[in-house]
Order: sequence, then C-alpha cells, then structure tokens
Amino acid sequence: MDHTPVRPKDRFLVFGAPEIHQDEIDEVVASLKSGWIGTGPKVARFEDDFKAYKGAPNAAAVYSCTAALHLSMLASGVGEGDEVITTPLTFCASVNSIIHTGATPVLADIDPRTMNIDPERVAEKITPRTRAIMPVHFAGRACEMDALCALAKHHDLMIIEDCAHAIETEYHGTKAGLFGDFGCFSFYVTKNVITGEGGIVVARDDALAARIKVLALHGMSKDAWKRFSDSGWVHYQVIEAGFKYNMMDIQAALGIHQLKRVEKNWRRRHEIWNRYNEAFRDLSIGTPADPAPNTRHAHHLYTIMVDESRTGIARDAFLDAIQKHNIGVGVHYLSIPEHPFYQKTFGWTPEQYPHAMRAGRQTVSLPIGPKLSDADVADVIEAVRRVLSLR
Ligand SMILES: Cc1ncc(COP(=O)(O)O)c(C=O)c1O
Repeated sequence: MDHTPVRPKDRFLVFGAPEIHQDEIDEVVASLKSGWIGTGPKVARFEDDFKAYKGAPNAAAVYSCTAALHLSMLASGVGEGDEVITTPLTFCASVNSIIHTGATPVLADIDPRTMNIDPERVAEKITPRTRAIMPVHFAGRACEMDALCALAKHHDLMIIEDCAHAIETEYHGTKAGLFGDFGCFSFYVTKNVITGEGGIVVARDDALAARIKVLALHGMSKDAWKRFSDSGWVHYQVIEAGFKYNMMDIQAALGIHQLKRVEKNWRRRHEIWNRYNEAFRDLSIGTPADPAPNTRHAHHLYTIMVDESRTGIARDAFLDAIQKHNIGVGVHYLSIPEHPFYQKTFGWTPEQYPHAMRAGRQTVSLPIGPKLSDADVADVIEAVRRVLSLR
C-alpha cells in the first residue's frame, strides 16, 4: 500500500489562498508612498467600480461583511423586539450581526439539495415580530429569491442578502445583492475578490446607503474622510454615535485590481468545478447540486458530502486523511446550533434543524480558486480517490 503523500509537505496546498498580482502590490505601495493610507480616494474609486460591476444604485465600502450586515440592519432600524430569520448553515457572522442590533435571530432549516434556506421553512417562522429575512447564497448558489421576495412582500419584511459567497451570482436575470433592501459582500482573504479584510453594502435606497457611510465612520457627517485633504481643513459634525467600520485605501488598492479579474477568476473556478464533478462521478461521496436553470453560480466553494454509511470513513477522519496528503480543506459550516453559545442563549439544538445538522457534519470544502494549477487540481482529485480507496 502506498503511503507517500500526494504532495510533499513543503508544497502544502493552502485552502483559499488568494491570487495576488503585481498590479495590486504596486497599487498598495503607491498608497503607502502617497501618505494617504486611510479612507480616501481609492475607497471612493473601489465603490464606483463595484457599483458599476453590479449595476447597483450605490455602494458603501466597509471593513467587513459582518460590518455590512450589522450596519444594514441598524440603518433601517432593526433592533430590540424584532426578529430576523436566517439559515443555520452559515458562518457565525450572519447570526452575530443580528444579535448585535439587539434583535433576535430565528433559524429556518435548509433545503438539503441546495444547502440554501428553504422558503417553506421561512414561512413557518414568520411572526408579528419578524422584521427581515437574511438569506445567505451558500457557496455562491442563489437562494430561491422568487419565493423569498414573495414572502417578504406579503408580510412587509425587509430582505438583507448575505452575499459573502456571491459576488458573481445571478438569479433569473437579477444579480445577487439587488433583490432585497441590502446586499452585503465580503472581501475577506478567502473570498472571490479580496481586500484582506473588507466588505461592501449595496442598498435599494440611496439615503440608507448614505446613512451606512456615516455610521461606518463614527457617525461623522458626510465626506468626513476629506477633512485632511489638500483642499483644506473642514469641520465635521457627529450626527449619531457610529462605529469604526471604514475601509482603508490600502485595502481598496487591492480590491480595485482584484475586481478587474473577477470574471476571469470565475471562469477558472467554473473549469475546476466541472473537473471535480467529472472526476468524482463514480465515487461514493455526494457532490454539489447542479446550478438551477436561469441562474449563475459563483462557484465560491466546492463542497462534497462524506456520509460514513456510504463511504466507510467518517467526515473528520476524511479531513485528517486529506490533510496528510498536504491538501488544505475547509468545513462550511458546522450548523449554527452546534455551537455552545447559541445553545445556551437560544436553547437551539442541532436536531431542530436536521438538514443543516447533517450537511454540517458531512461537508468538506475542497480547494477551488484561480491560483490552482491543473496539477494542483489533479493532486486534490488523487488525494480524494486515495483516501476513499484506502479506508
Ligand atoms: C456566509 C458568510 N457571511 C458573512 C461572513 C463574514 O464576512 P467578513 O469576514 O467579511 O466579515 C462570511 C465570512 O466568511 C461568510 O462566509
């Protein structure tokens, strides 16, 4: 039996490693040399570029998607006494952002095929206190927005889309982030466009986008970032108690060039996605559902399902075995009710959301990204095949 790893240790394939080009490096260096490092003209340019890419009416860059979600809800008055419905199969930030507004998060289980929040389960969770639905386009697959928007309209609810995985996602001709009242995007290091840390909000209402910009910078009046500019000093006024959630120019410097390659990178991930689908067709693992007709999948994550009763190996043992081949993998995500804080605070148990629980206990994310060479992809496939055959 061959026990040599598929890759040597010194070529460990880092999961989600971003691809950084010289353009980004030069732009960051130019920012550093210009003396303008904080929020300034490059953030404004990145906002304009993002707005154009999405065809959005506005864009407010912030420090993270978590900040984007938090401020979207605050700007529209979500707070104590309100309920916001989201999915149990998401990153903790979706739920935490609701908690930090003072509102109560409510979970609605996923559709096990799409991994996205199930509109029928959402309908069951609507109460007179429900203010908003926060769908998460998991892995870059669009949620069932027709059904969710119909529910929102019927019950007069806001929609705040968590588009952390979904920059390129489209559904029935509309781009993710433009269905609801707010679309919130992430530029964290593993995402499809990166700024190190970073996020952006697009809002249906320009006035709310403007309020988000104020809230993101201490609550200082509009364009406060210009206060040190070469056009001279200006007084600013604090008009509410805001946060320190602003994006810096050195982050935007990365984003400006990353965004230029967003479509090229999508095409590469699409290629890798198809290659994995082909390679795993005959294996006992589950592979992602095909994208629904008339939608565009962002291919942010490629998630397989390791069901021990079919594969003969438990998910966590599979993770260990793949890592031994020096391939980095991820788990997106253990369902929210698996975590002690939420159990303690809301009395949630994983069993109450059985589809998310099962997905969270079986899922493994394989590397997918523009940095991967064909040889890297072949190594991932070889490692998966070997782990399954050596069980
Ligand atoms: C679904 C989802 N929502 C929100 C976030 C938070 O994004 P950020 O790290 O930019 O705050 C993430 C980040 O991983 C995510 O995956």
